[in-house]
Amino acid sequence: MTANPYPLGLRLHGRRVVVVGGGAVATRRVPALLDAGADVLLVAPELTPALRARVDAGRLHWVPRRFQPEDLDGAWLVQVAIDDPMAAASVSAVAAERRIFCVRADDRTAATAWTPAVTRHGPVTVAVLGGGDPRRAMTVRDAIRELLAVRLGTDGIASTRGQPGPPAGATGGTDVVGTAGADSADGATGATDAHGAGGGRRAGRVALVGAGPGDPELITVKGWRLLTEADVVVADRLVPGLLLDELRPDVELVDASKIPYGPSRAQEEINQILVDRALAGAVVVRLKGGDPYVFGRGGEELLACAAAGVPVTVVPGVTSSIAAPAAAGIPVTHRGVAHEFTVVSGHLAPDSPASLVRWDALAGLHGTLVILMGLKNLAAITATLIAHGRSPQTPAAVVQEATTGTQRVLRSTLGEVAADALAADLRPPAVVVVGDVVDALAV
Ligand SMILES: C[S@@+](CC[C@H](N)C(=O)[O-])C[C@H]1O[C@@H](n2cnc3c(N)ncnc32)[C@H](O)[C@@H]1O
Repeated sequence: MTANPYPLGLRLHGRRVVVVGGGAVATRRVPALLDAGADVLLVAPELTPALRARVDAGRLHWVPRRFQPEDLDGAWLVQVAIDDPMAAASVSAVAAERRIFCVRADDRTAATAWTPAVTRHGPVTVAVLGGGDPRRAMTVRDAIRELLAVRLGTDGIASTRGQPGPPAGATGGTDVVGTAGADSADGATGATDAHGAGGGRRAGRVALVGAGPGDPELITVKGWRLLTEADVVVADRLVPGLLLDELRPDVELVDASKIPYGPSRAQEEINQILVDRALAGAVVVRLKGGDPYVFGRGGEELLACAAAGVPVTVVPGVTSSIAAPAAAGIPVTHRGVAHEFTVVSGHLAPDSPASLVRWDALAGLHGTLVILMGLKNLAAITATLIAHGRSPQTPAAVVQEATTGTQRVLRSTLGEVAADALAADLRPPAVVVVGDVVDALAV
């Protein structure tokens, strides 16, 4: 009878782990070891390009030859990622002699350690062992991953709020190991993180999250996870409604587009809401369309939080400046067609004294011009570009409500796009693309 395995969370930071083999299995295993901070020594005559890239980047050491016993000097763990059973058995034997745990890709029954199926959610890692059956482990892991994606906010991280965190490395269960890290792994920036490592009241914090251009599935995995953890969500007009639909019922939703006063006063109000809620201990997600730093005023919000000592995490988003052209079949760069793309705001007319854009210089570029918030001033913008030398025949397109079910695409030329957009009654939000890329994929 085989005894049950004993689950552990190995803390490999700075510790030598030897990986023997440079093929597909090693390619899959090495990233998690590096993520754990292990000092990885790879022993293999040849490497996959992905492993080679990590060696070139200085992330791990490579010994380009077959395994020799001295490779295990100083090792805490060895992963045998070769399928030659004789060679694997000899590595395993050297490891056993030295009391070093050994994972074997070729023969689990001969291994002294198994790698579990893993899903990670911020500070929480769930590792599943399927009693020696990797498929069973993966099936269970996938089910847990789905549950966590929906419920972690209520049942996982949020349930530790206001209480001391579990001791680092605490484990539970036999086949399923859940470790809740003592602190957020989100890389809070801009202010002192008030979460005491390993305990103390969990302080509030703010996450500036890019929600993507419109399709709710275009939010990042990290952005989605933070949304499931939020107590308060402060949302922009352009964020995908379906994301809000899936919030827990107890989440306070602040509609930032409904805050009265002028644009700068409204921004102050929003900053204040973020700061006040976070200082009161809430996990606040500031959900913004596209990317928070692309014409999103994310910088101002980060500075306001930092000034108040509130920790901030910034989660980049899929910006409409790239996604809207893509959704219309327009690549912003294309080999032999465009070697640059420029994103510019058209919210001010070219002759406005407040404009910071050098439209005359932009007219001299050959590449792709992506104009956000430019519909209102499109006639003046296109006339200025043409007046400064860009050909009126340059292909142009307008993409309205990109990546949503109501997306509209208009194709035209620089000389005619303003009139065409007006005639087609195109409305914001829309992105205008100018350049030969507009026709690059047209068949
Ligand atoms: C204030 S800016 C915010 C941009 C956003 N931060 C981003 O990265 O996409 C708003 C402008 O983005 C563009 N935009 C945002 N979502 C869009 C969409 N789904 N389709 C077309 N344009 C969009 C429009 O030009 C809109 O006027």
